[in-house]
Amino acid sequence: MAADGATGRRRGPSLSSEDAALDQKRAAAYAAVELVKDGMRVGLGSGSTVAEFLPALAERGCTGLRCVATSPATERVARELGLEVEPLDAVGELDVAIDGADEIDPSGWLIKGGGGAHTREKIVVAAARRFVVIASANKAVAKLDGPVPLELLSFGVNHTLAALAPARLRDVPRSPDGGLIADYMGPVGDPRELARRLAETPGVIEHGLFAPEMVSDILIAGETGVEHRAGAK
Ligand code: 5RP
Repeated sequence: MAADGATGRRRGPSLSSEDAALDQKRAAAYAAVELVKDGMRVGLGSGSTVAEFLPALAERGCTGLRCVATSPATERVARELGLEVEPLDAVGELDVAIDGADEIDPSGWLIKGGGGAHTREKIVVAAARRFVVIASANKAVAKLDGPVPLELLSFGVNHTLAALAPARLRDVPRSPDGGLIADYMGPVGDPRELARRLAETPGVIEHGLFAPEMVSDILIAGETGVEHRAGAK
């Protein structure tokens, strides 16, 4: 955070850094759209980076695309742009899924679910032959820091939260599938170990840690262009 020279007080990110991040999201989105060809079955993630991808995809004008959306917001915008959106089970295997991330570490681990859509996103990623992550440079971190988003069953949620401590519920509506959105607030440490612990806790529907072997490509747009990192999938 920059210091304000006149007052010495700290101030939030400047408009220009937000503008730069938006430009980078758009650049990553346009790089990813090149990978989409006529007739593909495409998984659409959720969030502000995907919001840049959707018009790029519509503009590309591929014929015969069949899309699957991971959130009601993505579905609505995709339809408004004229994209064909169908349920995942009607489409079957996907050729590619394209989605953003909250944090990306150098080995390809991701934290996702800032928008609370990580359960559907993980299902769509698992259904796709290729998973392409698109992000602005500020999402690339040296080490995952959290919080890690969670979707929890409402039954016995206080017990679940106690087992996951430190964890807290988010003040947001339930997911479209009825789950409660929460965050694990503790240290991430070894992401594989934490992913195992979160997945093994009764009441956790899904967590927002995505392993490198789920990821095919990572496109990170920065000041000098789009960096392509290979995933482990
Ligand atoms: C939503 C997600 C998003 O991909 C993630 O939160 C990144 O969002 P944005 O592109 O708005 O920064 O996982 O559940």
